[in-house]
Amino acid sequence: MAKHNIFLFSFACLVFSSITLLSCAATQIGNEYIVYMGSLPKEVSYSPTSQHLNMLQQVFEGGNIENLLLKSYKRSFNGFVAILNDQQREKLLSMKDVVSIFPNQNFHIQTTRSWDFLGFPQTIKRNPIIETDLIIGVLDSGIWPESESFNDKGLGPIPKKWKGVCKGGSNFTCNNKLIGARFYGNSDSARDETGHGTHVASTAGGSEVQGVSFFDIAKGTARGGVPSSRIAMYKVCGADGRCSASDILAAFDDVIADGVDIISLSLGGQSAEDFVDDPIAIGSFHAMENGILTSHSAGNDGPGASTIISVAPWLFSVAATTIDRKFISKLILGNGKTLTGTSVNAFPSNGTKIPIVEGTCSNGLDKTLVEGKIVLCESRGNEESAFQSGAYGIVSSVEESLNDVAFVSEMPSTNLNSKDFDLVQFYAKSTRSPEAEILKSGILHDTNAPKVAFFSSRGPNPLVLDIMKPDISAPGVSILAAFSPLAPPSSRIGDTRKVSYNIESGTSMSCPHISGIAAYVKSFHPDWSPAAIKSAIMTTANPVNGTYNDLADEFSYGSGNANPLLAVNPGLIYNITKDDYVQMLCNYGYDDEKIKQISGEASSCRGTSDPSLVKDLNYPALVIPVVPQKSFNIKFPRTVTNVGSPTSTYKAIVTPIPNVKITVEPNLLPFKSVQETKSFVVTVVGSVGSSQTVFSSSLVWSDGTHNVKSPIIVQLTS
Ligand SMILES: *[C@@H]1O[C@H](CO)[C@@H](O)[C@H](O)[C@H]1NC(C)=O
Ligand SMILES: *[C@@H]1O[C@H](CO)[C@@H](O)[C@H](O)[C@H]1NC(C)=O
Ligand SMILES: *[C@@H]1O[C@H](CO)[C@@H](O)[C@H](O)[C@H]1NC(C)=O
Ligand SMILES: *[C@@H]1O[C@H](CO)[C@@H](O)[C@H](O)[C@H]1NC(C)=O
Repeated sequence: MAKHNIFLFSFACLVFSSITLLSCAATQIGNEYIVYMGSLPKEVSYSPTSQHLNMLQQVFEGGNIENLLLKSYKRSFNGFVAILNDQQREKLLSMKDVVSIFPNQNFHIQTTRSWDFLGFPQTIKRNPIIETDLIIGVLDSGIWPESESFNDKGLGPIPKKWKGVCKGGSNFTCNNKLIGARFYGNSDSARDETGHGTHVASTAGGSEVQGVSFFDIAKGTARGGVPSSRIAMYKVCGADGRCSASDILAAFDDVIADGVDIISLSLGGQSAEDFVDDPIAIGSFHAMENGILTSHSAGNDGPGASTIISVAPWLFSVAATTIDRKFISKLILGNGKTLTGTSVNAFPSNGTKIPIVEGTCSNGLDKTLVEGKIVLCESRGNEESAFQSGAYGIVSSVEESLNDVAFVSEMPSTNLNSKDFDLVQFYAKSTRSPEAEILKSGILHDTNAPKVAFFSSRGPNPLVLDIMKPDISAPGVSILAAFSPLAPPSSRIGDTRKVSYNIESGTSMSCPHISGIAAYVKSFHPDWSPAAIKSAIMTTANPVNGTYNDLADEFSYGSGNANPLLAVNPGLIYNITKDDYVQMLCNYGYDDEKIKQISGEASSCRGTSDPSLVKDLNYPALVIPVVPQKSFNIKFPRTVTNVGSPTSTYKAIVTPIPNVKITVEPNLLPFKSVQETKSFVVTVVGSVGSSQTVFSSSLVWSDGTHNVKSPIIVQLTS
């Protein structure tokens, strides 16, 4: 077990995170603090900057404060960034208008067969006139504007509603596809040095490009979810993959005011933070208030429980699953035996067998021993040292359950399950001149897909137990999408290859799939609220295979794999207004003053704060935390809005859980018009043993055509 954890840890920090999301530590920059002040006052005469300076004046008592105000947020919400000591911080915190003060820490960045796999072919019915007016705002590591995926062939002029700019730095031009760019922090352009932002943006909204591949592997058409939509890039992450909280907030301030329709956010911190201290929760709250849904990666810290970092109910938190295309690389031993491992290995073999040596890989490799040879390593993650030592190739052993994910390697490589690896080791030990050949990658049809990737962060929600997280899942393993030629495709120094398309894995890759699907749904329903779009995608999702630990189920994949076709016509939706979220925060324990400043309105909490009412938020999923052997009786009020046929009757169908009684009252909902709402109560009564940690069921409202499905999860706490 210990070995397993160490392996996962070093893997996550050294190899994986550099490609996709989240690194090992969120570092604090000096003593820069973000002073968050909630919504902007509505008075026209209000000047945020002068108030910010005024406040600093009060805490610094003289001195030149101009240089201390590092940044003011003033377009979509109120706040500023300043260098503060403990005393000054306390003094500011005591001021009436300050909601919270938190350190400016770093966040980290986390592809096209996947669309077909989701049942979303190129020929899908689209709503071209509206789709071409949709703008996806991507907060990431920048973009490669010359990529074919951002060509603007066939696109009309920039939508009139666009209020943004193309300020990507020198030698950076936008077009009718990539309509906007901004950069923050230490960057001097919005150009992408890591490939991450280019990959993410092209998955969400890239144009159709035929005949792309990674060195002829996985050849096909690359396209985003909404190929005729527009893209705006907000570069908040630098070449090192770090993205500061203050830059993320600055980008939210801009992206909301610029007039985008959907925000795609494939980055995250190290752990779930209280909402008022989390720039992503704050920024996305204001986006929601402005009718913009934020799609957010769940994190890459799985498969442990409660590793999810995206926890706010107004975020759309996305887990990563496999698709039916698996990248394999074969190993042919000198004795003719052939073994199949996983890898994205672009190096063809010329048919010559290469000598094999066993490496002491964890202690560094002896160059004289391994040079020109194939090294056997007991664990994955030693490619870099093998490469630096001049080895020809590498064969690693990987626990089978972690071997769904193939990574791009900078040298011939394959990753075998331990049984096959043992065979190779035995062969190497028992043969005088052991040798082998590693073949270039091929593709295997994976009938087990979709399956949740081991790295995908799991629930339950570490902050608000009653809100199911993640919400949804989408392809995030071995995704082919556009890339930056400045970045090595394996993300390793020494890999000098330059590619326009690359294969990457992470919840960073699944998030833009959901951004694209949300935009697709919005192209049919431009007036739907962010919660309505989210509900439509959640209640129509397809089943997914969990696995990897006993916390499989909904806490790994949410409602399931998004199904874009069904999501356009969900029948009923669970709507949530801003006031509903505010009421939930009240029950969660936020006081009037905090709420008022976040929501920017005088309206405050209804009744006294009651944590047991957090579950009453009209979420399209029900979570019931219970103590084993203790009986419970929980009532969930919910309201649905008819968005299907005007006259229809929905019947409740509940899947049973042993020793638990689930009733729905009423269990028939007759509708007479579109937009009509009906309320009902789900009562869950019983007691469960501790044989499992999670018992899943579901409520489906069916009118014979639409099946509106919500997970019901009975979750054992301690
Ligand atoms: C602008 O950037 C592109 C892409 O890196 C490069 O090919 C071109 O030479 C640059 N032009 C100038 C004038 O720097
Ligand atoms: C085949 O590849 C190996 C390893 O790169 C090399 O040593 C050998 O000379 C090549 N053989 C031929 C016939 O090209
Ligand atoms: C959901 O609620 C919002 C108000 O928050 C409203 O504008 C919208 O029409 C409602 N229904 C749908 C389907 O979005
Ligand atoms: C889920 O995946 C596991 C492991 O690959 C497999 O054994 C099992 O049959 C799959 N279950 C379903 C329902 O596909």
